[in-house]
Amino acid sequence: MKSIVVVSSLTGNTLKVASAVAYGLDDNLEAVKVEENPDVSDYDLVVIGTWIDRGTADAKAQEFIKTIKNKKVAVFATLGAYPDSDHAKKCLDNISKLFDSSNEVVGQFICQGAVSYKMIERMKTMFPEGHPHAMNEDRRKRLEEAKKHPDEADLAAARQYFAELKAKLEA
Ligand SMILES: Cc1cc2nc3c(=O)[nH]c(=O)nc-3n(C[C@H](O)[C@H](O)[C@H](O)COP(=O)(O)O)c2cc1C
Repeated sequence: MKSIVVVSSLTGNTLKVASAVAYGLDDNLEAVKVEENPDVSDYDLVVIGTWIDRGTADAKAQEFIKTIKNKKVAVFATLGAYPDSDHAKKCLDNISKLFDSSNEVVGQFICQGAVSYKMIERMKTMFPEGHPHAMNEDRRKRLEEAKKHPDEADLAAARQYFAELKAKLEA
């Protein structure tokens, strides 16, 4: 099974995961940046990595996703929220819906990724005290945790997930 990993990453978190995903699929596989606009027509499995931007794939990943037709596809993503949260599930769901119906979504992986300092500062001004999205203790804790990710355990989990997915698809 010929696989390609295409990644969209703003600050590097998803790019780190992309290397682990590629390694899980094949020792010699390297992830390709979405900006290179790779031709996926020769591949059986197209794996797309994206950072989460307002609950879905970022604009570059979205644009690329829309071009894919008649493929087995899998998604991985990094986000500031906890990976087992409803928000994370909703994000993956939203991304799945972006694919043309001729594709088959065969896998999904998500983990936390550090939120940029710039974004945290912006959030503080966008959501002043009293606003439902204002900075509070829970949010502060989540952002502190996100700072540590993706960590070695996330990368190992990503690698294992995609190694197993490949084995399953080839069985
Ligand atoms: C403009 C912007 C919007 C974001 N929206 C969300 C969001 O809706 N949910 C979330 O959990 N994290 C959100 N994040 C956090 C990023 O998805 C997260 O930090 C991710 O790991 C960044 O990946 P990258 O380093 O590959 O760019 C947002 C970050 C930015 C800058």
